[in-house]
Amino acid sequence: MSDKAILEYGGKRYEFPVIKGTEDELAIDIKALRAETGMVTIDPGYKNTGSCESAVTFLDGEKGILRYRGYSIEELAEKADFLEVAYLLIFGELPNKAQLAKFHNDIKEESQVDEEMKKILDGFPKSAHPMGVLSSLTSALVAFNPTSVDVSSETAMYNSIVRILAKFPVLVAWTLRKKKGLPLDYGDDSLGYVENIHKMMFKRPNQDYKKDPIAIDALDKLLILHADHEQNCSTSTVRIVGSSHAGLFASLSAGISALWGPLHGGANQAVLEMLEAIEADGGDTKKYMAKAKDKDDPFRLMGFGHRVYKNFDPRAKIIKKAADDVLGNLGIQDPILDIAKGLEKEALEDPYFVDRKLYPNVDFYSGIIYRALGIPTEMFTVMFALGRLPGWIAQWREMRLRKEPIGRPRQVYIGENLRSFVPLEKR
Ligand code: ACO
Repeated sequence: MSDKAILEYGGKRYEFPVIKGTEDELAIDIKALRAETGMVTIDPGYKNTGSCESAVTFLDGEKGILRYRGYSIEELAEKADFLEVAYLLIFGELPNKAQLAKFHNDIKEESQVDEEMKKILDGFPKSAHPMGVLSSLTSALVAFNPTSVDVSSETAMYNSIVRILAKFPVLVAWTLRKKKGLPLDYGDDSLGYVENIHKMMFKRPNQDYKKDPIAIDALDKLLILHADHEQNCSTSTVRIVGSSHAGLFASLSAGISALWGPLHGGANQAVLEMLEAIEADGGDTKKYMAKAKDKDDPFRLMGFGHRVYKNFDPRAKIIKKAADDVLGNLGIQDPILDIAKGLEKEALEDPYFVDRKLYPNVDFYSGIIYRALGIPTEMFTVMFALGRLPGWIAQWREMRLRKEPIGRPRQVYIGENLRSFVPLEKR
């Protein structure tokens, strides 16, 4: 096969190199397109545009494959813990025992958040959406840790990475505790990374914390499943903000805002609200299926469909089983799980969903687990952000190490041509 793509336009012929990824994905390298032809490409939503070369995550949406650094998501969800996966994503290899212990110890050393941050949190009304609070707090961290902008050395970068992995869970826990009216507290460095997160979120001021292995295992798995997903909306945001050489924390804060939207990470909250609405409406799933298919109705079946998966989202399969296991182990019978399973069954047999290759995505069942763990609905996307943190960091680090240029797309202008200014009194 030729390793060149030919473009013919205006009687001229242009050749562009075709590059091949390690999983045989092909891409036409159009870096020279504008210089040679005077043209740009147009691709709203970037459906066909590769924004970078990346060695972090591979996914094949047609086959339903997801791998972090070459390891399958199924194997990682079963055998690894979240901190190992974070290390793997960020540094490229699974850590050995000594590397993992050092990584964890370095994180513990940074697990304080400046007390003045509490004043910022205090300024938010209790009704504030936790994603807005988390994004603001992450951005505010820059003020307290100005060295986070120094990316000129790997050591400085490592320190920033460890710092955010330490402080972010505290911010997540404080966001939850503020919502619940609980006192803000720190964790316990003698605990594992995820166990500590669980304690920071749920410890009651007047009770000893009781370790809850079912909840911690479930949390660990959910965080791993959300840890990276190549160039999605929030990750692309982190990379593009970072490409202006804004610091890591500022880039992450922007990524959190991107994740908030219901077409992206906000879908987990939207799914649960949808399931609750269906339950309150008598559990008539057929009615909601009809709404989802009606082009005059803005309703969409939340948690269904994906930009790249045109097959089962492999994470959804794992989460569906985990939902069954967690609810079973906790002895919870949630009618919402039955509604979700009913909707899934109907959708998978319905030509509208079959023809458009719409399958349940990662968020179809995740909210049911979060709810069973006692996490309020408005916090679901915050939990997603906590899981996605290592992925964002890994992608940001890769972008900086590869010295990628500032992200700056072109456009096709469709506005007015040059016209003369009309003074106010003549308009
Ligand atoms: N319910 C009903 N119809 C849908 C749904 C849905 N959930 N998703 C897609 N469709 C239909 C569209 O109406 C469109 O139909 P048409 O071809 O007749 O016009 C077709 O399927 C293709 O949909 P697009 O919106 O063009 O697909 P796109 O790749 O742009 O969007 C997205 C993907 C945003 C995820 C979409 O499927 C959606 O809105 N899903 C619901 C929200 C959701 O669950 N988001 C979470 C995604 S996972 C994540 O970000 C973590």
